[in-house]
Amino acid sequence: MERTLSIIKPDAVAKNVIGKIVDRFESNGLRIVGMKKIQLSKSDAGKFYEVHAGRPFFGELVEFMTSGPVVAMVLEGENAVAKNRELMGATNPKEAEAGTIRADFAQSIDANAVHGSDSLENAKIEIDFFFAGRELL
Ligand code: CMP
Repeated sequence: MERTLSIIKPDAVAKNVIGKIVDRFESNGLRIVGMKKIQLSKSDAGKFYEVHAGRPFFGELVEFMTSGPVVAMVLEGENAVAKNRELMGATNPKEAEAGTIRADFAQSIDANAVHGSDSLENAKIEIDFFFAGRELL
């Protein structure tokens, strides 16, 4: 059993497809053990994406992630980290396999509908960023 963090980004929240994305996870054996809708501040987004701080796209990433509310979720299941990444598809929706969340709901590499932890180690850090232990059930 693993837990991983998923974020439904502002573009997908604005498109009113929260439920459709959640269904992809539940229909594929992942359980929602924590969920919240939240407006990130610039400081929140900068801290969350700290590893990308030196990258040329960092400013736009922070701008985009604070452009509207996001939905943060903790997904639990067997191989949850890899399963979530498989369901999301490639970071750039133009390269995402048909039937993946990004192929179906994303427009661009910035507005790419969802974020998912890239390793179990980062999943723990990212889950702690958004959730207290008592919010995970
Ligand atoms: P995410 O999985 O949330 O992690 C960092 C985000 O930066 C990524 O999804 C993309 O939305 C965004 N991004 C923008 N440009 C790039 C790029 N060239 N490489 C990787 N991520 C990028």
